[in-house]
Amino acid sequence: MDVPKEIFLKDYKAPDYYFDTVDLQFQLGEEKTIVTSKIVVSPGVEGISAPLVLHGHDLKLISIKVNGTELKGEEYKVNSRHLMLSTPPAVVFNLEIVTEIYPQLNTSLEGLYKSTGNFCTQCEAEGFRKITYFQDRPDVMAKYTCRIEADKTLYPVLLSNGNLIEQGDLEGGKHYALWEDPFKKPSYLFALVAGQLGCREDSFVTCSGRNVTLRIWTPAQDLPKTAHAMYSLKAAMKWDEEVFGLEYDLDLFNIVVVPDFNMGAMENKSLNIFQSRLVLASPETATDGDYAAILGVVGHEYFHNWTGNRVTCRDWFQLTLKEGLTVFRDQEFSSDLGCRTVKRIADVSKLRIYQFPQDAGPMAHPIRPHSYIKMDNFYTVTVYEKGAEVVRMYKTMFGASGFRKGMDLYFKRHDGQAVTCEDFYAAMCDANNAQLPNFLQWYSQAGTPIVKVASSYDPSSQTFSLKLSQEVPPTPGQPVKEPMFIPVAVGLVDSTGKDMPLTSVYSDGSLQTVSTDGQPVFTTVLQFKKKEEEFMFKNIPERPVPSLLRGYSAPVRLDSDLSEGDLFFLLASDSDEFNRWEAGQVLARKLMLSLVADFQQQKTLVLNPKFVDGIRSILRNTSLDKEFIAKAITLPGQGEIMDMMEVADPDAVHAVRNFIKKELAVQLKDDLLAAVKSNRSSEAYTFNHDSMARRALKNTCLAYLASLNEPDFVELALHEYKSATNMTEQFAALAALSQNPGQVRDDALLDFYNKWQHEYLVVSKWFALQATSEIPGNVANVQKLLSHPAFDLRNPNKVYSLIGGFCGSPVNFHAKDGSGYKFLGEIVLQLDKINPQVASRMVSAFSRWRRYDKTRQALAKAQLEMIVSANGLSENVFEIASKSLA
Ligand code: PHE
Ligand code: ZN
Repeated sequence: MDVPKEIFLKDYKAPDYYFDTVDLQFQLGEEKTIVTSKIVVSPGVEGISAPLVLHGHDLKLISIKVNGTELKGEEYKVNSRHLMLSTPPAVVFNLEIVTEIYPQLNTSLEGLYKSTGNFCTQCEAEGFRKITYFQDRPDVMAKYTCRIEADKTLYPVLLSNGNLIEQGDLEGGKHYALWEDPFKKPSYLFALVAGQLGCREDSFVTCSGRNVTLRIWTPAQDLPKTAHAMYSLKAAMKWDEEVFGLEYDLDLFNIVVVPDFNMGAMENKSLNIFQSRLVLASPETATDGDYAAILGVVGHEYFHNWTGNRVTCRDWFQLTLKEGLTVFRDQEFSSDLGCRTVKRIADVSKLRIYQFPQDAGPMAHPIRPHSYIKMDNFYTVTVYEKGAEVVRMYKTMFGASGFRKGMDLYFKRHDGQAVTCEDFYAAMCDANNAQLPNFLQWYSQAGTPIVKVASSYDPSSQTFSLKLSQEVPPTPGQPVKEPMFIPVAVGLVDSTGKDMPLTSVYSDGSLQTVSTDGQPVFTTVLQFKKKEEEFMFKNIPERPVPSLLRGYSAPVRLDSDLSEGDLFFLLASDSDEFNRWEAGQVLARKLMLSLVADFQQQKTLVLNPKFVDGIRSILRNTSLDKEFIAKAITLPGQGEIMDMMEVADPDAVHAVRNFIKKELAVQLKDDLLAAVKSNRSSEAYTFNHDSMARRALKNTCLAYLASLNEPDFVELALHEYKSATNMTEQFAALAALSQNPGQVRDDALLDFYNKWQHEYLVVSKWFALQATSEIPGNVANVQKLLSHPAFDLRNPNKVYSLIGGFCGSPVNFHAKDGSGYKFLGEIVLQLDKINPQVASRMVSAFSRWRRYDKTRQALAKAQLEMIVSANGLSENVFEIASKSLA
């Protein structure tokens, strides 16, 4: 490998040439595909001729013409990554390039490739250059047409972006279709699909009365499983009109399902492509979690039509401009259609479990990275999920209507453009007549800020003070950090559990908020923007318990001086439901950490009875939402606790979490059993919050009981497994049963496989369940599953289920004998030859190796070193592995 080149944001330069129109022609074939690209090129500055450098990778160049004349060898240069025309005309000219490609051999799943016999494309971020030579960068926006020619029997369906304007038969059993996209777009939004597909068709009338045809394409036998995706699409179209006034802009919207896909889904203009898991669902084969994911992702890709497509990114460093914003939009969409608190809890948990560790490790980067080697490596939880939190903070500060004004201004200014994060920030601030000093730091500083809070009450002056201090930890390349602008939503709870009305808050002698027009305010947003700042609430008649960072108003780690008593009090009575859950989590984290210390000192573990009481009263509280209860009685994950330790100890954390789980199960047996029984239902499956909440509570309680491995409860779980009429309950019962090694487990797993072997998405779940299992010595089992006939290293979804699943299970991946590390090291090298993007996502599991003890460090490091020194390593894996070692 040549030494991989790092690309820097600060080196951004506008392109020397723009492309006005791009006319593509594909002759799809079994041995080769011929791509003809005709581009109208205009110089950025008329009259000045700079070299025109086009990207290209894995292409065979057949010919190049400028204004109809074929170029001779000395008029251009080609190497493995570029095609350069040294002296193109200095005025508008026609460029025609013919290339030959081999999609049938493309296992990287970027560019044009084949999935189960059909042709499809994936161009984001830099896949278009594997189709033809092009200025493959998002600030080059053009109008496209696409003519596809292929065998009519093998590929009856031919799709591309925009409108179908012509189709017909050709000689030799072939046919063609000509598509035209009236909107300018960057190359990463180009798409083509050709194959044998059936479609579910429906329609949507937009707010201005236009009729849009909606089609979901999939192999014919899967069509019955597309109903929920179609429902989701229509709901998303309506929601975007209602909440943001955004209407769909073409007469046709297509979704295509492919089994082989690197990511979740892709927002190509009017031709979204999805991996199967995120479209196909039936009650029998998909869980509530799958249904919810489909709703969210169908929404996400649809919402990109405005946030991403109509307004796109100037360069890839700005990725969060479209992704953070679109994730925020899909989160809000799911909240509005389901339960806001429960959705918020799920999103914050995801951030904590996946993003916090990234932000504290060797791959830490700001939501807008400063540099990259392979852009593919920066489709991260930081850019997506933390990016969404940053967008959410604008809404927290400006309110829903202020946020909407900002969005309106953003589209008014930038429709049809490729822009930057500053443009979004400016639209938000300008629309609200606001200035947000140091808010832009969120785009440039990595690391999770730590906010400390000390509170005090002065009865004589009836003032309550919150002293806030912040610290952003050092991250690679950023040893010293500036203070951030942190919105802290606060309420003060009185001794009866009610919110106190807030009248005035002072900071630095100046007024920060006051209740407007005499209306009482119960939650106020403190604008915390210095290293240290004190906020004083006036007219506070008694010592309140502060409810801090309500709704999780900023992506920080909060370290408050609330006592255990205060936290139990908030758990029981905070009006902010998110903070009720949070109080329980803070208590659980403290409890787990102290038990981990006991475990390490070989003390007998004893569970604090107050904690059991707290959980019991949540479980018995019939006024609470059932899914909320399920979440509130679930302990923080092992990773969260390891994250808080000086040296992560997976064995201790595992032992402690299991201890608490079983202890709760023993002490709350009757309540748990009652919850399982009373939450059974004979109704047909429906996707609505109430029935999902019911199932969630039942399944959570069942898992507690089954963890005890007592005959009665094994019977109970078996009964639930056998009587289940939907995958949500069947799979949860299977998971409950498979917690304990033994014959019952083996039989249940085998039974499940036999039942579902013809449903590959269910088989993936079956792989994942075994992969994430915490039974001792599980690496051998996972190793064996690699050669299971249903497993396939070329299918990313299966890799994520089995290998990704395994790496997410702390006890076995971090097995002290190094067997888990060795397993991953070997597989990464094998995968890298097939699909570098997938290999690189897997190798990330090593990145936090320094968090563990010396023995584990040495074992993991050896694997990373072995990987970095391997021959022919991809840039993708090189970047992650080498940064992990740095
Ligand atoms: N842009 C896609 C999304 O967020 C993700 C994606 C990235 C898909 C790169 C494929 C390749 O919806
Ligand atoms: Zn996206």
